[in-house]
Amino acid sequence: MATVQMSVRPEDLNQVPTGKERIPDPVILVIFGASGDLTKRKLLPALFHLRQNNLLPANFSIVGVARRPLAGEFEADMRAGIVEFGGADSTDPRLDEFVKQISYYPLNFDDPASYTGLKAELDRIDKERNIGGNRLFYLATSPEFFAGIVENLGAQGMAVPAQGHVGVVIEKPFGHDLDSARELNHKVNAVFAERQVFRIDHYLGKETVQNILVFRFANGIFEPIWNRNYIDHVQITAAETLGVEGRGPFYEKAGALRDVVQNHMMELLSFVTMEPPSSFEAESVRQEKLKVWKAMPPIPILNAVRGQYGPGVINGQKVVGYRDEERVNPDSGTETYTAIRLEIENWRWAGVPIYLRAGKRLKQQATEVSIQFKQPPLLIFNRLQNSGPCQEIQPNLLTIRIQPDEGIALRFGAKVPTSSDMSVCPVNMDFDYEAAFGKSSANGYERLLIEAMLGDQTLFAHRDGVETTWALFTPILEAWAAKKPDVFPNYFAGKWGPECADRLLERDGHVWRNDLGRKA
Ligand code: BG6
Repeated sequence: MATVQMSVRPEDLNQVPTGKERIPDPVILVIFGASGDLTKRKLLPALFHLRQNNLLPANFSIVGVARRPLAGEFEADMRAGIVEFGGADSTDPRLDEFVKQISYYPLNFDDPASYTGLKAELDRIDKERNIGGNRLFYLATSPEFFAGIVENLGAQGMAVPAQGHVGVVIEKPFGHDLDSARELNHKVNAVFAERQVFRIDHYLGKETVQNILVFRFANGIFEPIWNRNYIDHVQITAAETLGVEGRGPFYEKAGALRDVVQNHMMELLSFVTMEPPSSFEAESVRQEKLKVWKAMPPIPILNAVRGQYGPGVINGQKVVGYRDEERVNPDSGTETYTAIRLEIENWRWAGVPIYLRAGKRLKQQATEVSIQFKQPPLLIFNRLQNSGPCQEIQPNLLTIRIQPDEGIALRFGAKVPTSSDMSVCPVNMDFDYEAAFGKSSANGYERLLIEAMLGDQTLFAHRDGVETTWALFTPILEAWAAKKPDVFPNYFAGKWGPECADRLLERDGHVWRNDLGRKA
């Protein structure tokens, strides 16, 4: 398919701002579970990048908290992580300066007495660095510790300090079903007011995800056709070539639906389908997201399918099946793939099928939203076509590439030059992020860390939203738990998932787009 590259002009580029830079107040960031992978691979590299871009306050401190005694090792390990995963230059003097702001405090999460020591340590750092009482607690532990940590912080009076502001960032998963999410929210809100709680979903930190709102609400031409009168159906794909990457025990309990659909994909879907908020402020955005999730009727079990990968080939390399992955039950019933057909019962979307699919070890690594528009009422050129490059006129398709190859493409029909029979061929108008704005090294965590320090909740999940999405998926999870599929594994690694997912769309006369990315 021919492609027209869209990019901004160089003279415009000079005016492309790097964004409004708001610097948070001085703060101590306390990371619980700091010896885990997330801190080293994502959080610290993101924080150093923020420091390089002068986006962190001068008076700033990171305190890693975990159970193991890591005196002395922690800072060096974080430095190595910033170099390895953040691509920092190990000889950069700013890195040494940054590492001086990191310290470690060993603590038994369940032991109330250790929190007295932590409080004293934070007060000491606060005084030394003139922080003014501000704290941001980041819970990066395994989820069973979330409630206990929060209770202990509350018991020590650390949630409501005498001066300064305090927030708590909670990593997913927020519960594993509706009841556990409610219970966790209840325990968290018993200590922290909702305005202090930042439930992190790193998809909301992605530029391309935020850009969905800009695309829809900062442009006049798309919104009038963004509804059931023009849109035939919507597909959202989160396809990974990766497997479970050593996270077998975690994934065994999670599965694809809990791992990425209830959270990342539902966030994406809400941005694609919500009504325009009255402002880009936390309350307005969260209300609109909630409304659209609440408009989704219960999902019939036949509209949710699951799969598990067997052995296969990914990028020319043989890979094992899920059941042969490290620390995975050899008879596991956990889904590594799911596809779901949803509907939204409101005036904008009634009757428009929305298909979600997410899977590991699929053919391509791509997260993408595609909006397929309806065909024109009368296809006058079709009648003339009997040969040539295009046999059939294809409907307009708007593709939002979340990652990789970040961009947006619009497919439309064009006349094939010199054709005497008005042959129509699909072509793409393609906006490419990198070509327009240069390479962005920012991952979702940078933006979200800054927003949490600034106290802005717009890009974080609210308790009502979390409970509403769990309410939608819990019946499916329960039905799946009650009956282990006897056909697992049902797709080969390196393919596009199980056949049942194709049949889900065939029922509506649709097919999955299996040629994702810019070249599609
Ligand atoms: C995480 C999941 O939340 O998101 C992982 O636990 C998944 O299993 C990851 O691979 C996908 O994130 P991204 O940013 O790579 O699309």
